[in-house]
Amino acid sequence: MAGRIPQEFINDLVDRADIVEILSNRIQLKKAGREYKACCPFHNEKTPSFTVSPDKGFYHCFGCGAHGTVVGFLMEHDRLEFVEAIEELASFYGLEVPRENSRGSTAPVSPSAPLLELLSQAGELYREQLRETPAAIDYLKQRGLTGQTAADFGIGYAPPGWDFVLKKLGGTDDKRDDLLKAGLLTRNEDGRIYDRFRGRIMFPIRDSRGRVVGFGGRVTDDGEPKYLNSPETPVFHKGRELYGLYEARQIERNPERLLVVEGYMDVVALAEHGISNAVATLGTATTAEHLQRLFRVTREIVFCFDGDAAGRKAAWRALQISLPELRDGRQVKFLFLADGEDPDSVVRAGGAAEFQARLAASQPLSEYLIEHLKEATDLSSLDGQARLAELARPLISSIPEGVFRELLLDKLAGEVGLSAARLGALLTDSAGRATAPVRPAAPARPTQPTAAAATGRNPLIRRAICLVLQQPAAAKGLELKAGLRELPNPGIALLIDLLEAAQENPDIKPARLADEQAAHPDGGSHLTALLLQDLHLEPSSDWSAELAETLDAILQQELQKRFQRLARKAASGLTEAEKQEMRALQQEIATLHSNKS
Ligand code: UTP
Ligand code: MN
Repeated sequence: MAGRIPQEFINDLVDRADIVEILSNRIQLKKAGREYKACCPFHNEKTPSFTVSPDKGFYHCFGCGAHGTVVGFLMEHDRLEFVEAIEELASFYGLEVPRENSRGSTAPVSPSAPLLELLSQAGELYREQLRETPAAIDYLKQRGLTGQTAADFGIGYAPPGWDFVLKKLGGTDDKRDDLLKAGLLTRNEDGRIYDRFRGRIMFPIRDSRGRVVGFGGRVTDDGEPKYLNSPETPVFHKGRELYGLYEARQIERNPERLLVVEGYMDVVALAEHGISNAVATLGTATTAEHLQRLFRVTREIVFCFDGDAAGRKAAWRALQISLPELRDGRQVKFLFLADGEDPDSVVRAGGAAEFQARLAASQPLSEYLIEHLKEATDLSSLDGQARLAELARPLISSIPEGVFRELLLDKLAGEVGLSAARLGALLTDSAGRATAPVRPAAPARPTQPTAAAATGRNPLIRRAICLVLQQPAAAKGLELKAGLRELPNPGIALLIDLLEAAQENPDIKPARLADEQAAHPDGGSHLTALLLQDLHLEPSSDWSAELAETLDAILQQELQKRFQRLARKAASGLTEAEKQEMRALQQEIATLHSNKS
């Protein structure tokens, strides 16, 4: 296993790299004052709106919004993974890339190294168990898999029983802690620790470098849940990883297209039939980060969804997430299967040829978008046409400017019976924007969870979440009180993570913040709905003060609750510790009060 590249090396390298020098080997740069200009390599244009600032070490395209550092440029332009981009850059300057944790070195070990090591060991143990469990092998055979495919994907088996991994790998307290952190063990309410995965076929999830970062496990009978996935851990983020991407790239590094399917079994069944370019999300919705990763590797993405209501809903969401990524040269298509079908069942019944035929008939994004809008409106009336334009506006405006956006406008105009110019005017009457906002479009039908659905939690917590989400810069410089972090309420973990992400990057776009946290186990999937929640605040209001007040109010409210609980109990007597806690609470509440006035 190659070790991590020290962050310090990366920082130094990026600082010393001359962005102009690196870029001018790839595109035609012209000096313009302190900066350089070029025709943007990421979208089609005749007048240069791509700007490089050597001082800031930064490029930005005013046409399509592409921007980043020299490393980001190499990743996008040369289609490299992050590590590859660093290696490319280092080799340009004749530097050797150092690695942490190589044998015999005393360099600091990254905190995730022990987790990765345990995950890899567990993967090996599961594979060994599979070889020794005929019933599990039979299950895979009965699902049409050969030993070769099972081996390619490193499929294994977690035996039933509570302590297989615990006994094999949890020899010390430290190891047990790490196994918990890695999601391989879990702890029940009584504090008992046991194996998370028991009696399941195990699918290892590998990161872009092939390291096992998590697992999905399927029961071999009709037990519940059918699939169990690793939880979010320091090394495993569902919003980022894609099952099968590493394996697909072992076959072809830059495939012409990648298919996004829904299940582990779909990926492996397709591979079994020689269709080795399928990947799956991990039981969560597709995120912008998923798409960005995929588009670094390929130019065309085909989403395959079941034809049922859930599949349609997931497809529309995938479309919305895709729009901001649709720079020229990139394609997104949709393949809808019949209700009850999935790629696994199609390829098993009809072979690769049948699946390829379906694939050839997949629907381009533009077609699907227009069809979906037409279903939602009655085009025979003028009202309907206006409504269609209304629905299309946020969708279109989230597409980067370029040929694709123009084509879509043309097509849409044809549908509504307007000239493209007229429709363009209708769509951009609020405009004058140089770059398209990446705000996700409102759904044509309310297919997303509404804000109300996300209101299970305390309204103050919800308001704080909305505030930081809609204006991340409001979190800048805010001091997060320790007491807030410790609150057990649902939504607090999400709130804290949002606040920290926003503080780290106050300029982050709300949509990207929502995306990044979409897989957050503490209600992240509701964030998109909360983006649009009206907070009855002017953009010019002091959001930062509003946020600080709301956070204090949350803390105040919870401290009061605890205080009152103790006060009620005081009648029947308090322990010394409880008395002490009451005094401390009183103090804290008083401090919060005095801060306010
Ligand atoms: P499906 O239920 O469509 O499973 O879930 P499948 O892939 O067709 O599975 P088979 O064919 O019955 O084995 C699709 C995906 O949704 C997630 C998993 O990632 C699964 O691959 N899922 C499903 C879960 O996370 N948990 C579940 O209980 C079910
Ligand atoms: Mn299936």
